[in-house]
This record gives sequence, structure tokens and C-alpha cells, in this order.
Amino acid sequence: MQTKESSAMQTKPALAAVIGAPVGHSLSPAIHNAAFREVGLPWVFVAWEVPDGYAPEALASMERFGIAGLSVTMPHKSAVAEAVDSLTEEAKTLNAVNCVVCKTDSETELVGHNTDGYGLITSLREDLAFNPDGSTCLILGAGGAARAAALALAQAGAVRIAVANRTSERAEQAAALAGDKGEVVAPDTAGEFDLIINATPLGMGKLAGETPISPMLLHPDQTVLDLIYDPPETPFLTQARSKGIKAHNGLGMLIHQAARAFELWTSHPAPIQAMTAAASQGPASSQSPAS
Ligand SMILES: NC(=O)c1ccc[n+]([C@@H]2O[C@H](COP(=O)([O-])OP(=O)(O)OC[C@H]3O[C@@H](n4cnc5c(N)ncnc54)[C@H](OP(=O)(O)O)[C@@H]3O)[C@@H](O)[C@H]2O)c1
Repeated sequence: MQTKESSAMQTKPALAAVIGAPVGHSLSPAIHNAAFREVGLPWVFVAWEVPDGYAPEALASMERFGIAGLSVTMPHKSAVAEAVDSLTEEAKTLNAVNCVVCKTDSETELVGHNTDGYGLITSLREDLAFNPDGSTCLILGAGGAARAAALALAQAGAVRIAVANRTSERAEQAAALAGDKGEVVAPDTAGEFDLIINATPLGMGKLAGETPISPMLLHPDQTVLDLIYDPPETPFLTQARSKGIKAHNGLGMLIHQAARAFELWTSHPAPIQAMTAAASQGPASSQSPAS
């Protein structure tokens, strides 16, 4: 619920940014500027290219120049977790921050959040009508996105959270985030799970033609979430859908993690429809910031 005090504060113009390297193709400016316009906040969101190793300087400037909110992407998520004043439980467990809130109650405090897990679970529920509670899940990959998925699925009540990854040590570390529900499996066990999540880059960029597992392993009772959103349709999604499997790309997760950040920064409910429409148009719409 929005307080009178926070409402007054939000009518002031403010700057928010995403830091990363590279960050030029980030959808975050398009998504957040659309949200600010939709709710009538005089905020502007920019993509800020910060070279690897310089995240602490970017954080210091939040306080100095009154930057109200920061999104964090590769390669800064761990460095920001080390540099903020405090961390939420998720961010601390993952040692990764994707959203910084500048709290200015009595003195300034930079709080590091990780909203990726929230984004993933909300996308599962809303885009795929998939309830993680009581489900069995296979995560392909063991990087930052996979780790956030393992923790969030455990918190959402999944009863079996398996990780398959080409580097087994990283698979063990990701599975451990799910506690006693976590395990490491071979990818050819995919047929055993209710939900399959692709958290590898197989299907995008130079790996655009590849799939993380053979869709021959899957059956129509399963659900697939491919965290890739560019391209919006990977070969894995196409092949899964051709087998009658419910499948969705990573755009929903991206939008919902941004929506959570928006709410943390502004105390306004996020305008999901406007954010979704902006994300679907791609980074070019960021050329029209909030006015
Ligand atoms: N939708 C969203 O909001 C969202 C958010 C974050 C990420 N993502 C997407 O999720 C994917 C993973 O991102 P991330 O940040 O977790 O990346 P990351 O930390 O670099 O992890 C990548 C994972 O993929 C595996 N991998 C990489 N190349 C591979 C290959 N050629 N064959 C097999 N496995 C391979 C890596 O295995 P090793 O451990 O063996 O190196 C690692 O486990 C990306 O496609 C990214 O775009 C989406």
C-alpha cells in the first residue's frame, strides 16, 4: 500500500538505470520507461555501460547523484552483492544482485535484491498456468539463472529439483540451493519431470540452431520454460510445442523480475500490460523515455 509520504516523494523526477557490459541491447530501458509513462511518474531509465570491475563506483554514484533505482546485469551481479549495504535473503544465498534499492529513511542505505526467482515463478504461474507446489522440475544449466531457479522452485514448494549441466561441480552447487529437494541428474532423465527449464544459451546467438536436450525425450504432459527471449522462438520451444507440450520463452520472467524491481523502487503496482507491450517491441522503444 502506497503511503502519503512515498506518494509525495515519487512525484519528483528521478533517474534509474541498468548497469552492465555490454548493456546496449538491454530491454530494461524500454520496459521501465513504458512503466513510468503508464503510471505518470516523471522518472527516466537509462542503459549505463559500466566496465567490469567498476560496479562499486556506479553504486557510490547512486547516493551521490540521487539515482533512485538500479538494475544489474552481467558481469556485475556478484560484485554488487559484495558492495551494497545489505542484502535480502535471496540475494545473499545466491550471492547475486539484479536490483538495488536506495533507501533514504534517516540515512542512505543501498539494499541488494534478487528478483529473478520471483520473475520465474510468476511467469510459470501466469504464462504457463504451472503451479510449482508439489511439482518435479529439471533445470538445464547451472549458471546465475539456473541458481535463481533452483532456489525459487524450492521456496515455491517443488518436491524434486534436478540440475543437469556439462560441468558437474557447478551442477552440484546449483542443486544444493534447493536443499534436500535438490539433485544432479543426466539430461536423458528429462522424461521424468513435470517441468523442464532451459537455463543455458543453447538456442540463442552463435548457438541459435541448438537445443539443450533432444525433444524426443519429452512428452505432452510436460511443461517447458526456455529462459531465452531473444530470439523469442528457439528450436527447443518449436520442437516442444510440436509435441503438444505447453511451452513459453523467457520474456515473461524478464518482465516480472522488472515489475518487482519497479514496485520496490516506486511503491506503485507495476503496469504489467504496458511493460509487456514495450518488451515485445524490443530495445528501440527505449529511445522514447518518460517525459
Ligand atoms: N528470461 C530472463 O529473465 C533471463 C534471466 C537471466 C538469464 N536468462 C537466460 O538464461 C540463460 C543462462 O543465463 P545465465 O545468466 O545463467 O548464464 P551463465 O551464468 O553464463 O550460465 C550458463 C549455463 O549454460 C551452460 N552452457 C553454456 N554454454 C553451453 C553449451 N555450449 N553447452 C552446454 N551448456 C552450456 C553453462 O555450463 P557450464 O557451467 O558448464 O559453463 C552454464 O551452466 C541465457 O540464455 C540467458 O539469456 C534469461
